[in-house]
Amino acid sequence: MANLLVLGTQWGDEGKGKIVDLLTPAFDVVARFQGGHNAGHTVYVKGKKVVLHLIPSGILRAGTLCVIGNGLVISPPAFFKEAGDLEAQGVDIGPGRIAVSRGAHLIMPWHPLVEKISEDRRGEKKIGTTCRGIGPAYEDKAARLGVRAGDLADLRILREKIEENIAAKDPVFRAFGLPPLDAEAIFREYADWAAKLGPYVRDVPELLHERMARGESVLFEGAQGALLDIDHGTYPFVTSSSSTAGGAATGLGVGPKTIHGILGITKAYTTRVGSGPFPTELRDEIGKGIAACGDEFGASTGRPRRCGWFDAVAVRYACRTNGVDRIALTKPDVLAGLSEIAVCTGYRYKGRRLSSFPTESWILEDVVPEFRTLPGWAGSLRGISDLGALPRTFVDYVRVLEDLVETRVAIISTGVERGDTVLIDEELGGLVDLARLRAPGAA
Ligand code: IMP
Repeated sequence: MANLLVLGTQWGDEGKGKIVDLLTPAFDVVARFQGGHNAGHTVYVKGKKVVLHLIPSGILRAGTLCVIGNGLVISPPAFFKEAGDLEAQGVDIGPGRIAVSRGAHLIMPWHPLVEKISEDRRGEKKIGTTCRGIGPAYEDKAARLGVRAGDLADLRILREKIEENIAAKDPVFRAFGLPPLDAEAIFREYADWAAKLGPYVRDVPELLHERMARGESVLFEGAQGALLDIDHGTYPFVTSSSSTAGGAATGLGVGPKTIHGILGITKAYTTRVGSGPFPTELRDEIGKGIAACGDEFGASTGRPRRCGWFDAVAVRYACRTNGVDRIALTKPDVLAGLSEIAVCTGYRYKGRRLSSFPTESWILEDVVPEFRTLPGWAGSLRGISDLGALPRTFVDYVRVLEDLVETRVAIISTGVERGDTVLIDEELGGLVDLARLRAPGAA
């Protein structure tokens, strides 16, 4: 198995960063295909917490090429802030390590301002976005107004595009009583970014094609989660990009057949940041306990995450719509100490059992979840790396989840560190080169 796609099967924050970092030694390239610095991928290396937003999690393993595809929207200041923080920690962040697609769209200074207007206008119905200009940058992409990384190569084109955008935005800014945008100042700022970002900008489809033709393997890294996908998520409470499997092909310029396997990252309970329906949400002490124990605060915005029981209807839907081969189950250690654990097995809507996951938010808001209660397990899972050392009741819990979501579990994460992981060889072997993963120096 050569290339693997890793994506979240819930509403994001499933723990993709840790799993990508863990699997990176088996790959030559790690490529992100959508989103922007709204993502927050947390990785712990030897007790030190590193939070990545835009740069692929593979950056923490020396020698891996990290790719930012055309499907992303990039804020140059955010990119260089993150790169600077990594460099301060001794990580090589030069153009030899990071390639930015010339087709990636840029977040411009007006995007966060437009987003604030749009969220304020929605009032109670606001999406609860990260307010980083992500949505408006994708809106401009669809409106054929976007400024792309490749445009930075010609300052005449850059100036033209900035002026065209400001002319389009001006009436909105006037209507909301905001000061007019200063085209010259924005041009000067972005001409500076052009000089800095230029060395990173590459023809990514060609680069990936060449690397794969040479026999190198690629890990495609998703951000957010399947239920936040613009098409298949809980619209309109979604992000503005394609976080499902198909997004990897369009967001990098590779054929779908280059994706040989799909690993879904699934948390042992459910969380959600921002607004939107959440059938299994716990608004009680159990929910608060999970949040505290699981450190459930947004890695990008610091907002508390809403917590709830595992929702097998939602995860089965995500596994089906993405063709997930195997699951990496994360954070079950957080549930330790609960005498009973509930799992949502179905929804009822207006008295009838639904046969599938409804993506209409107004239906999902009104469904009544059906739960199955399972016994909790005694003792902590933290740090266990051997399948045989897992408590029997916990293994039974995993088997129930597998049956409900119709997908086998290949990895169980039992803590934040790289070593706090159970790798189930017979499930993972078809997806990852285990010999390479276990080679000396990979730990
Ligand atoms: P946006 O992506 O900033 O437009 O926000 C849209 C929705 O996606 C909001 O509910 C955000 O909280 C959510 N969101 C965006 N990025 C992430 C993430 O990395 N993890 C979890 N939720 C996210």
